[in-house]
Amino acid sequence: MIIKVEAIVREDKFEDVKDALAQIEVNGLTVSQVMGCGKSKGYTEIVRGSEVEISLLPKIKFEIVVSSEEWERKTIEAIKKAACTGNVGDGKIFSYDLRTVTRIRTSESGYDALN
Ligand SMILES: Nc1ncnc2c1ncn2[C@@H]1O[C@H](COP(=O)(O)OP(=O)(O)OP(=O)(O)O)[C@@H](O)[C@H]1O
Ligand SMILES: [Mg+2]
Repeated sequence: MIIKVEAIVREDKFEDVKDALAQIEVNGLTVSQVMGCGKSKGYTEIVRGSEVEISLLPKIKFEIVVSSEEWERKTIEAIKKAACTGNVGDGKIFSYDLRTVTRIRTSESGYDALN
């Protein structure tokens, strides 16, 4: 099973989440700066120490593709532990089945392209 785990976390949790993923030795990852809001949109959130009332807030998105449900669980656990403060706006983790992966250099696809 090839699974994509996508996590949206607080900006200031970037280092912690990156380190947690390095600890479990993921085979690759993509990080982007994104803007988003959850169900609490319209309410205020504390960003870098100040209260912000805009509905879209800067977040960090991690994308990790893994080759089993066991790795999916490990990845989600690591992110959850590193990104949780217990306050609103901690983020969300989405995971879903991915059709295939192709390594451009070798033309390998599927599991071979991941490992
Ligand atoms: N349903 C969703 N679809 C797409 N992105 C989402 C969704 N919910 C949350 N996100 C993304 O996750 C980020 C953080 O969401 P957030 O933690 O505020 O979710 P929440 O459901 O409001 O939970 P909480 O009550 O803990 O704030 C959002 O800024 C957005 O980028
Ligand atoms: Mg929210």
